[in-house]
Amino acid sequence: CFSPELLPLYDLRGQVAVIVDILRASSTIVTALGEGVTHVFPVASLEECTAYGQQHGCLTAAERDGLPAAGFDLGNSPFGFLDKANPVRGRALTISTTNGTAALRRSLAAAEIVVGSFLNLAAVADFARQQQRDVLVVCAGWKGHFCLEDTVFGGALAARLSADFDVRSSDATLAALHLWEQGQADLPAYLLQSAHVRRLNSLEASQDFDFCLQIDSYADVLPVWRDDRLVMGLK
Ligand code: MLT
Repeated sequence: CFSPELLPLYDLRGQVAVIVDILRASSTIVTALGEGVTHVFPVASLEECTAYGQQHGCLTAAERDGLPAAGFDLGNSPFGFLDKANPVRGRALTISTTNGTAALRRSLAAAEIVVGSFLNLAAVADFARQQQRDVLVVCAGWKGHFCLEDTVFGGALAARLSADFDVRSSDATLAALHLWEQGQADLPAYLLQSAHVRRLNSLEASQDFDFCLQIDSYADVLPVWRDDRLVMGLK
């Protein structure tokens, strides 16, 4: 488990990476695929998001600084994919967010990439169990800074894997595990003081916070990187 300031120190070539941006990009991508989006093109810039939308005729979603970016179909709220009046099933999506999609694009040297969130913790844990090598949790953070919620997810994943692996062999995983052990009894209360939760609350996106902390509500959804896109992984 490592955070954005450490990412440049890691050589991801040949590694397995789980990209995590609990609030909200990775949770939103899991929700999108869970609600029937066929595949997702995560892109770093707003210009690419527009270009992919035109080129592939897909839905566009974009966020900057926690707010929906102007000129796109959707922002970065998972609720955008749950709107019965505008169903997303069968559509493709391109998405650009401040940190999450940028973290994914910076991790493309990895041999295998999946997207993790509390919503699909079980699917990520199953995937990790099948690997014959280390699994790195890439925490997107916020503009290069550590985010508590992403690291707590790393701890939750380690806890799920503790019967299968020696998850205490790395200090980073051990620290994440300790944070999870402190927060797990009441995750919303534990994360309430975190910087991005305060940011979302001030943007009146607190319902997203509660949604993104639901554990295993999309337990079978595993977004997997294939070629140039995220698709639903096979169980
Ligand atoms: C990001 O990628 O920075 C985000 O997911 C921020 C957000 O939309 O809350």
